[in-house]
Amino acid sequence: MCGIFAYKGKRDTSLDLVVKGLQKLEYRGYDSWGVASEIDDNIFVEKSTGKISEVKEGAFADKKSHMAIGHTRWATHGGVTEENAHPHLDGDGEIAIVHNGIIENFQEIRDELGHGIFKSETDTEVIAQLIGKYRKEMDFKEAVLKTIERLEGRYAIVVMNKGEEFLIAARRGSPLIVGVGEDEYFLASDIPAFLEYTQDVNYLDDNELVVVDGGIEFFSLETGEKIEKRLVNIDWQAESAEKGDYDHYMLKEIMEQKETILRALNQDEDQINTVVEAIKNARGTFFSGCGTAGKVCMTGEYFFAAIADRHVNFQPASEFPIYHHFLRPESLLVTVSQSGETADVLEAMEVAKSKGSKVLSLVNVEGSTISRESDYSLLINAGPEKAVASTKATTSQLALLLLLAYAIKGQLQEGRRHLSEVGSQINDMLNPRFLTYIKEVAEKVKEANDLYIIGKAENYPMALEAAIKIQEVSYIHAQGFPAGELKHGPIALITEGTPCLSIIANDEVKADVINNTIELKSRGAYIIGIAPENNDVFDEWIKVPDVGVASPLVNIIPIQLLAYYLSTLKGLDPDMPRNLAKSVTVK
Ligand code: AGP
Ligand code: GLU
Repeated sequence: MCGIFAYKGKRDTSLDLVVKGLQKLEYRGYDSWGVASEIDDNIFVEKSTGKISEVKEGAFADKKSHMAIGHTRWATHGGVTEENAHPHLDGDGEIAIVHNGIIENFQEIRDELGHGIFKSETDTEVIAQLIGKYRKEMDFKEAVLKTIERLEGRYAIVVMNKGEEFLIAARRGSPLIVGVGEDEYFLASDIPAFLEYTQDVNYLDDNELVVVDGGIEFFSLETGEKIEKRLVNIDWQAESAEKGDYDHYMLKEIMEQKETILRALNQDEDQINTVVEAIKNARGTFFSGCGTAGKVCMTGEYFFAAIADRHVNFQPASEFPIYHHFLRPESLLVTVSQSGETADVLEAMEVAKSKGSKVLSLVNVEGSTISRESDYSLLINAGPEKAVASTKATTSQLALLLLLAYAIKGQLQEGRRHLSEVGSQINDMLNPRFLTYIKEVAEKVKEANDLYIIGKAENYPMALEAAIKIQEVSYIHAQGFPAGELKHGPIALITEGTPCLSIIANDEVKADVINNTIELKSRGAYIIGIAPENNDVFDEWIKVPDVGVASPLVNIIPIQLLAYYLSTLKGLDPDMPRNLAKSVTVK
């Protein structure tokens, strides 16, 4: 979680530049923010709870400096207060640090240094205090290295020291990227933060340290030796990461699904063939991901069974490590992740690799840790997804898994044709009338305390995903069930007027789901049907195209819209739901 942004270079507006960069990273964490720079021979720090988007342009215009660091926080240790916001300083106020991640042995270090010196409740402050302590005995870089030796856990840090004109950054488990401009450098948790200044980047890998001076030098944290790194050019347009005419990123990204499905199909054929061989040769294939990406994996299980006649096992990444019993060198772990940085997924990969298994990843962010640490990696090409709620990445991931299932069956071209047709039907579906109708439905159910969703077969995971979408942006208690499980318990929750979404595809389980929907209706439920055909049991009918086995792709889109309108009609901000962050880089 959290956004880190730091600048060192030719411009003297580093503090304002850092604020602007952090505003682009706000989706990563937004409970508080802070910046630091050396001004008039002192470390100047400004911190605040609340959103960095509210900081005015040029707020630091009178504080000129060529180097600054900043942070938007997603609290793990210590409440959301100004004291706990980063940057944190050492006792003398000379070392300033921003940190993303968790220092697992912070308690032990606090005990050792004495609790009295600490001004915050964070785990982060131990890093500042330790560097400060060692700095008295050695130079800045050595003090940082010695401190890092003591730290356990996952982190990305950027540190500055009063009187020194360089930044030091290091990573172990949390993302950090160096943007390389002309006589200027940017350190950030994610690329959109500096995309308007440069498209040339160096990815910092785990156990690496970078010193940003007039130039940049990389070192291994393990050997202390200098390392050479390749400069990578990022093929992204700055505008694609902006909101444009839309009120929210979430709506913009939902609407982009008119094109993103097609971009997911844009895969190199040789690469697909290599991946298909790896899947075919694997003895034991596992799918894993978190949250929405996990629900995509579950849907993938159905796609692989129905089309490729292959059995795969799904586990949420946080539960995956226990599967080590079943992992062998011939096993294949397929991970799905929009950000490519999710800590639970990285841990699942570590477990698989420790058993010699291979890893294939489907990610959206090129150069992300998950993609770089996989044996095979495919990009879903959805473009930057900034709203916390995943939408376009979800359908692109579904499209790519379905395409892979076709490819395993030897029907790559048929798969492409089918999914292109789905893409154009989504384009037709997302018309203004459709959006207006969904908004009307949202208006009718927005006061509900509870909302239930049912689906069966490949639409059962979509019922679970629908619940995530509605929960995270509207805060309505939403729960998804396999349609047939209702009568085994949850039906007791249904009373007069309880809104229930029923996902009914035109498939072999259609009659069953209709029956289950009638069972709900008989208990007084208000039925919102998502289906290609109308049915008497529906109180509301959201019409979706009939796209055969690809039905999850078209069924989830109106639910994303419903979640969006439930959120905005309730006056909430769907892009930044409470307690959440886009990229979950802590366990
Ligand atoms: C999606 O709407 C959620 N915000 C969340 O469940 C997300 O899908 C999950 O945290 C996984 O993220 P990833 O795809 O970046 O790995
Ligand atoms: N663990 C640190 C804290 O709670 C960093 C959290 C973050 O990554 O934002 O302050």
